[in-house]
Amino acid sequence: MIPNEVTIDLDALKHNFFEIKRLAGPHARVLAVVKSDAYGHGMLPVATALESAGVDLLGVFEAEEGLELRKAGCEATILLMMGITSDEVSAVVKHGLTPALFQVDIAEELSRVSVEQEKVTAVHVKVDSGMTRLGVWCEDLPNFLEQLLPLKGIQVEGIFSHLAIADQPDHPFTDQQIKRFKESVEACRRRVGFEGDAHIANSGALLGSKGLDLGMARPGILLYGSPPAEGWAAAAPFKSVMSFKSRVIQIRTVPPGTSISYGCTYKTEERRSIATIPVGYDDGYSRLLSNNGEVLIQGQRVPVVGRVCMNLTMVDVTGLEGVAVGDEVVLLGSQGKERITAEEIAAKIGTINYEVYCTIGKSNRRVYIDS
Ligand SMILES: Cc1ncc(COP(=O)(O)O)c(C=O)c1O
Repeated sequence: MIPNEVTIDLDALKHNFFEIKRLAGPHARVLAVVKSDAYGHGMLPVATALESAGVDLLGVFEAEEGLELRKAGCEATILLMMGITSDEVSAVVKHGLTPALFQVDIAEELSRVSVEQEKVTAVHVKVDSGMTRLGVWCEDLPNFLEQLLPLKGIQVEGIFSHLAIADQPDHPFTDQQIKRFKESVEACRRRVGFEGDAHIANSGALLGSKGLDLGMARPGILLYGSPPAEGWAAAAPFKSVMSFKSRVIQIRTVPPGTSISYGCTYKTEERRSIATIPVGYDDGYSRLLSNNGEVLIQGQRVPVVGRVCMNLTMVDVTGLEGVAVGDEVVLLGSQGKERITAEEIAAKIGTINYEVYCTIGKSNRRVYIDS
């Protein structure tokens, strides 16, 4: 079997959840975002661990994910943050999922089916406060809620919005969005007597203590141990949850002038020891790490040489004493005193840590640590 393994440390995940609770404050509730297979960490084990730690609500993208959680026995409130399509209404009502709502026709369908099934379906209205992505505009929110009021079988339990730039500390746009959001929620409390939850604080807002007075936080990336961007000192207590390891499968000493991998983009200038690792872009190890990435062997950083292939990558292990076939290779995570973070990989390939986690996590066999 290929010796590649993504390890998910559920103890670190729970530690991060309790850190989030500490940041959010004693009375705030936490909606943990576990969409996209929990950012590549595995939705079911992550949701189960968070439920056991006392999470208040879970957030997924679409109905299919919510149904999978219910099928696995998850009893928490599950917010479907994308909303739902009309063909999903019946299953959503039957399994007690909580859809985001921003279209009247879906609300009417939900109402009809809920009455038919003799149920009350909780919904959270999605408001667009400046992201220009999804939802009812802030200024249209009170009218939208008024249209929902006469509909039987649905209950507006929440109103939420998403921040566009909370990863940049103190960017004024975040304050503007929060202000706009709060004003529209207030208008709903006054005009239609809305009494439910309001939430806008993602990981960046949590770290910057913004929007927490609303009483609920909705973090994703912090649960997995990373800040939404580099430069957040407040993220220091959070622990990495994912690591990615492989093993050396061949070592050869090559003379000067030897070219390595596709395209002959790397040529040795002197005698070098080259190790081959069975990891490639099919395993989520980006081809942009060609002649660019580093991995850890024997607790030391060694460079990727030549192009990352679909399933194999070469690294220069010259000078590593006693390096041998079977040695552990860390591509993401710690070994000895060294550590390679998702942020480091992201910076090297021009993306964000979110994408690194999703890609590596979903491409590999995962094993879970849970003491
Ligand atoms: C609607 C919504 N809320 C919350 C989050 C969590 O954001 P973060 O991972 O930055 O905390 C996301 C993530 O994309 C999202 O789409």
